Amino acid sequence: MTTLPSILLVGGGRMGSAMLAGWREQGLEQAVIVDPSPGAATLAGPGITVVAAPAQIPPGFAPAAVILAVKPQMAGQALPEYARFAGQAVFISIMAGKTIAAISQLLGQAAIVRAMPNTPAAVRQGITVAYPSSHVSAKQRELADTLLAATGDVAWIEDENQLDPVTAISGGGPAYVFLLTELLEQAGLDQGLAPELARKLARQTVIGSAALLAASDEEAAQLRINVTSPGGTTAEALKLLRADDALPKIFREAIAAATERSRALSG
Ligand SMILES: NC(=O)c1ccc[n+]([C@@H]2O[C@H](COP(=O)([O-])OP(=O)(O)OC[C@H]3O[C@@H](n4cnc5c(N)ncnc54)[C@H](OP(=O)(O)O)[C@@H]3O)[C@@H](O)[C@H]2O)c1
Repeated sequence: MTTLPSILLVGGGRMGSAMLAGWREQGLEQAVIVDPSPGAATLAGPGITVVAAPAQIPPGFAPAAVILAVKPQMAGQALPEYARFAGQAVFISIMAGKTIAAISQLLGQAAIVRAMPNTPAAVRQGITVAYPSSHVSAKQRELADTLLAATGDVAWIEDENQLDPVTAISGGGPAYVFLLTELLEQAGLDQGLAPELARKLARQTVIGSAALLAASDEEAAQLRINVTSPGGTTAEALKLLRADDALPKIFREAIAAATERSRALSG
């Protein structure tokens, strides 16, 4: 187990608390969490203090990293309070759509890593894509990588604009997989399966397929082919699903729409 340096977590909601769980497993010894919601108190533990406002951060607390995990619309109000840590800490922002330029306006000159995680971070199976501002040192990038890797895989990019398609693919991606699970369950009901069985089949098929993908050296396309006997039942379903105007088109358009929305929110 590694020992992580002290961190300041601003926003202990769904993503913030998921990341905190990962850091705890990695040997987090000292952290302060700022979150005004009453539920945040449950995040406190040995070495971990929860406060409701930045004015209550213990005097002298000098975090090596400040994680910005509030909603993007709270940034204007919340962030300027943390500008005083800019000299020493690397800021890691997971706020969707908030550009380095926008964050810098609120913090002044600061070392900022923009990161896009996803909710499987809660079970250490996330994927986070990270982009460093020009003020981030090699040591700070290493620290950011360690912190982000506590919740799953990390990929670094050199072009901030790529965070828009990343947001569309992996940021929102779990929602598409959950939708698939819902639709499979509904289709089972439509075919006359009992509700409990339809639910079980849909869930375990998604869970088992993901585990097989993780355990296999084969590409997703090959795993698909392995299930599909020519002329069989799966082939019949895939003929409809993979038609040019069906899923390939819908996915292309849906991801393009989400990417566009991410761009619009960043503007
Ligand atoms: N959820 C995802 O899938 C996902 C994926 C990638 C990135 N993100 C990003 O992660 C960030 C957090 O999302 P989330 O889903 O974790 O939201 P969330 O569950 O609403 O968490 C935000 C937390 O911040 C608290 N808060 C509000 N104002 C604050 C302030 N001034 N200072 C400190 N804490 C404050 C909120 O308390 P109250 O509830 O009392 O307001 C809440 O506990 C967002 O910027 C989002 O874009 C989320």
